[in-house]
Amino acid sequence: MRTVRFPAGSREYDVIIGNGAVSVLSGEIKKLCPGAVKALIVSETNVAPLYLEKVRDELTKAGLETADYVFEAGERSKGIEAVAAMWNKMAEAGFTRTDIVIGLGGGVTTDMAGFAAATFLRGINVIQVPTSLLAMVDASIGGKTGIDIPMGKNQVGAFWQPSLVVEDTSFLKTLPDEVFTEGMGEVTKHAFIMDPVLLEKLEKANGNIRDDEDLLEEIVAMNVADKASVVKEDENDNGRRQILNFGHTVGHVIERDSGFTKPHGICVAKGMGLIMDACVRAGTLSPDDAKRMKDLLMLYGLPVSDDITPEAIVKGAMNDKKKRGGLISVILVNEIGKAEIKKMTPEEFMGFLSK
Ligand SMILES: NC(=O)c1ccc[n+]([C@@H]2O[C@H](COP(=O)([O-])OP(=O)(O)OC[C@H]3O[C@@H](n4cnc5c(N)ncnc54)[C@H](O)[C@@H]3O)[C@@H](O)[C@H]2O)c1
Ligand SMILES: [Zn+2]
Repeated sequence: MRTVRFPAGSREYDVIIGNGAVSVLSGEIKKLCPGAVKALIVSETNVAPLYLEKVRDELTKAGLETADYVFEAGERSKGIEAVAAMWNKMAEAGFTRTDIVIGLGGGVTTDMAGFAAATFLRGINVIQVPTSLLAMVDASIGGKTGIDIPMGKNQVGAFWQPSLVVEDTSFLKTLPDEVFTEGMGEVTKHAFIMDPVLLEKLEKANGNIRDDEDLLEEIVAMNVADKASVVKEDENDNGRRQILNFGHTVGHVIERDSGFTKPHGICVAKGMGLIMDACVRAGTLSPDDAKRMKDLLMLYGLPVSDDITPEAIVKGAMNDKKKRGGLISVILVNEIGKAEIKKMTPEEFMGFLSK
């Protein structure tokens, strides 16, 4: 078991990572939320049958009354209706400001549980128990919460840090292979933008990290520490936190153009590959480093390219919320382990992407 202290300006909290980590929940809750009487467990139809009882037992052990809200698994549920149902559930059960929401699931669940907690009674405690690789290394940590609206993904939300994150890596055993691979998109991203040691570990593991419990725990913890170090400097996403968007400016466009049928992590991998190609053409990234990064993506079953045109990328990026004042923030990796944020006009971005 490992603990990473997550230092986000307004609130510091522990991220406890390990095989069987869920068993720390009752003790931690007694320590962290001594005034809590009730807890709402938010989960979904794939995860609840596997892990909800385990979590409920822990809460009961901590002396809490529990309620649960289980929604239909999948991104399509990530809307205001589900969150409103959580508010109503808590109101009906008489939740007060010292009570707790528990998010048990992938990123869809942790984003919504966090948003329900951020907004109910102007903010109550949320404890995240992520169950997908992507949620463990990315979505459940850092305090971004939210929902989708018809105009776009994650368009409504709040910054709301959890009180605790418990990452039981044994939960990853039931994750479908393709969902695990998708999470590797964010893991490799962390390696490329800031963590050459992680990169080497992933290379050495030769594509097999799922079955080695210790290694998996270590790799998840390294990713949490990486994200922590970035969020520490820029909780509200106005500066350095943007490096976490490596591959995302392009990836989001590919994702949206597919009508969200292509998984996020796959689109991010494609986006990273396309940006690497452009950096090599610009002469700022060595072909050897680009090859090393792309080989790693492929080793973990991820794609490194896409046939989307530069025109489509620039058009899509201009519609993305991440553009600022007509400029597009493009994240570049010109040296393994070092990311930079470059603001480009649409014309510059087009030139950069064009062969
Ligand atoms: N808040 C943030 O900073 C942040 C960062 C990245 C992504 N996100 C959000 O996260 C979401 C994507 O997360 P995700 O990929 O975890 O999606 P998800 O929650 O839909 O989970 C992916 C799939 O895995 C299943 N699953 C999860 N854990 C399982 C387990 N242990 N065993 C079996 N099946 C399991 C789910 O039921 C689902 O089918 C998106 O909505 C994205 O916007 C948020
Ligand atoms: Zn992402």
